[in-house]
Formats: sequence, structure tokens, C-alpha cells
Amino acid sequence: MSSQNPLLRLGVLVSGTGSNLQAIIDAIESQQLPGVEIALVVSNKADAYGLQRALKHDIPAIYLPWEQRPVGAQFIAPEIIAPKLAISESESRLTTLHHLFQVDLIVLAGWMRILSAAFLEQFPQHVINIHPALLPDDGKGSTFTTKNGIQIPVFRGLHAVRQALDAGVKITGSCVHFVTPEVDSGPVICREEVVIEEGDTEETLHERLKIVEHRLIVKAVESFKVLHEPA
Ligand code: GRF
Repeated sequence: MSSQNPLLRLGVLVSGTGSNLQAIIDAIESQQLPGVEIALVVSNKADAYGLQRALKHDIPAIYLPWEQRPVGAQFIAPEIIAPKLAISESESRLTTLHHLFQVDLIVLAGWMRILSAAFLEQFPQHVINIHPALLPDDGKGSTFTTKNGIQIPVFRGLHAVRQALDAGVKITGSCVHFVTPEVDSGPVICREEVVIEEGDTEETLHERLKIVEHRLIVKAVESFKVLHEPA
């Protein structure tokens, strides 16, 4: 993949099916994201379909085994701030890859591993994530006010879709936000609300959220590019 005048090189991190990665690939191929290219795709899972998607489009795709360490516990308690541990070996490899492939923006597209504060410090405001729930503008706090003025809890961490269903809220959504050491708590770039329908299951709701996400991720990359364009 290459564009004539690539200005923004993405490193996309996936752990699963990679439908959001596909949305970016499609947007680039249909000229919706001029001056953007995907420099590489990295997965912590060898069998992630996202890797296959990348290879089908001649994008370098790398399986990077990820060492587990206690920060994984934050999936259970997302309000805990990622401890400022030294960069792990996996993160150090990831850093090297991003420098090697001259990545300008790291996109977490269904990446299921916590990145440490020490790792993130290397790429301030240059790592974005897609989250399947609504976060406030600054990413902080425990409530979100919808466009219709309804206050709902903020759902962070794993299973945000299920959390919304369990809480019985009528509206949820997805957003793209900057990644900070606190899990799912960084400033929001763009978001869309989605109505929860009677009889929705985690699967049906997540599918509808993903349709929205595919628009949002393209919009977020575009906004980032505009923001970083040389004057
Ligand atoms: C998305 O729903 C995203 O919000 C969450 O993980 C899911 C990834 O889906 N972080 P896919 O792998 O892009 O299909």
C-alpha cells in the first residue's frame, strides 16, 4: 500500500477480527483518506483475522507475542491508573517496530492489551483507541450526558457493551479517544450515540456499534491529520 505523497503513517494494533482496521484500509483505498497510509499492523495474537486482512492488502503484518504482567488486572478494575513500570520487553519491541516503520500515529483497533504509562510517554497524544461506549469530552468522570440531556454511567474497560445492557440504559455509543495511562479515560476526538433496542443482546448491539465505529475511526484519523498538517 502506498499513496503518492504519504504524510501520515499509521501503526494499527489489533487483537481480533480487525473490522475497524478494514474500515481504515477501505477508506484509504477509496481515496477518503488522502495522504494516509498504514505502515504496519501488529497483533498480540497470531491467529487474529486482522493480520490476514493486512496481508491481503500487502500491508506489513506482524505477530508480536505479548508478555502478561499484572497490569492485566486493570481490565477488571479499569479505574486504576496503569502503574509506571518500566517498559516491558514486548512494549520495547513495539517501540522499535514503530520507529523502524516510521509510524506517526498508533491506532488501537480492538487491541486488548494495556499499554504502560512509560510506553505511552514516548508517543504523547499520538495513540488513539476505539471504545464501544460513551466517554465525556475530557475522558474523565463517571457520568456522560447524552444529546437529549439524559445522564448515563460511563462504561470503561472490557465488556463495555455488556455493562451498558446490564445497566439498562437506553442510549450508548462509541468513541475514539486519545490513550492515556488511565484506561479509557483520554480526551475524546469523536463519538456517536446509538440507541439500545428492545431485545438487543451484547452481539446485536456490538454489531451496530461497530458500524458506527467504522465511520468514527476514519473521521478520527482525518482530524488527527488535519491537526498535524504543516501550515
Ligand atoms: C471494537 O468494538 C472496539 O470498540 C473495541 O474492540 C472492538 C474491535 O473490533 N475496542 P474489530 O476487531 O475492529 O472488529
